[in-house]
Amino acid sequence: MVVVVHGGLSEKDFLAFDTLIRACEMAREVMREKEAIDGVESAIKILEDDPRLNAGTGSFPNLLGEIEMSASVMKNDYSCGGVAAIKNVKNPISVARAVMEKTRHILLVGEGANLFASLLGFEPYNPVAELTIETLKESICEAEKEKNPIYHCYLEKAREKLRETHWGTVGAVAKDEKGSLAAGTSTGGVKMQLPGRVGDSPLIGCGTFACPFGAVSMTGEGEEIIRWGLARRIGEWMEKVDAQKAVNMGIELAREKKIFCGVIAVNSQGEIGWGANGGILPLAYWKKEMEEPLCMLTNNS
Ligand code: GLY
Repeated sequence: MVVVVHGGLSEKDFLAFDTLIRACEMAREVMREKEAIDGVESAIKILEDDPRLNAGTGSFPNLLGEIEMSASVMKNDYSCGGVAAIKNVKNPISVARAVMEKTRHILLVGEGANLFASLLGFEPYNPVAELTIETLKESICEAEKEKNPIYHCYLEKAREKLRETHWGTVGAVAKDEKGSLAAGTSTGGVKMQLPGRVGDSPLIGCGTFACPFGAVSMTGEGEEIIRWGLARRIGEWMEKVDAQKAVNMGIELAREKKIFCGVIAVNSQGEIGWGANGGILPLAYWKKEMEEPLCMLTNNS
């Protein structure tokens, strides 16, 4: 049994390691009884629920101030599902899984994805934490100018809260006891995104891929990850080389094409790999022989 989770490629400090560890622990517990796909979904739900991360609660708003989220899942038997530009749900990863398990389709978008989620009984939810952060920034500016000194007493704590905020797609890959593999990725998109913009995360073969040789989740510059189909390439390379080598080959290609990206992978033997081109990739992992999950920052650039 193995699980790896990531908190999104970043250019600044990452302060949500506690959540990465909790996500790994949750996957570990769930996979004692269930499959890799259950581990991946439960881990990503924890990441989506942390407002410091750009997925689910905490997603970036688009240029109209609305939150449009995207997510996908895939298993080693090529079953897969995704949602793009979905609004008003708490856990897009669970809706993506429902697309995989309850429809004949792979990807539902926009209004269709919203309708599907509500028909299945997903509760309406407002994931608007980014706007909360913007309000906090404005309040800090105003408090700095305030003549009444009591406001200044709160400033340091408020600034600390802002420093904890980190924006990045989230993802997980896992292998269970029976040898099944699964990958999942979830995002709020990118800053300044146009309404309707879709990145790599919900697209099979781009942000997420799994096949009999391995499972992959990507983060970073969605448009370039789509252009070069990175997750599929890395997944298929695992037929011939181990997980870390396949990731290294992906990162080499990313360097050559100047793609800002990060990746986590697990192969059918349970070997794991990770890497990043430009920026830092926060991740946590747990393998059966380890007492507790470990977390780290990786930087291959
Ligand atoms: N990698 C996330 C996005 O581009 O939307």
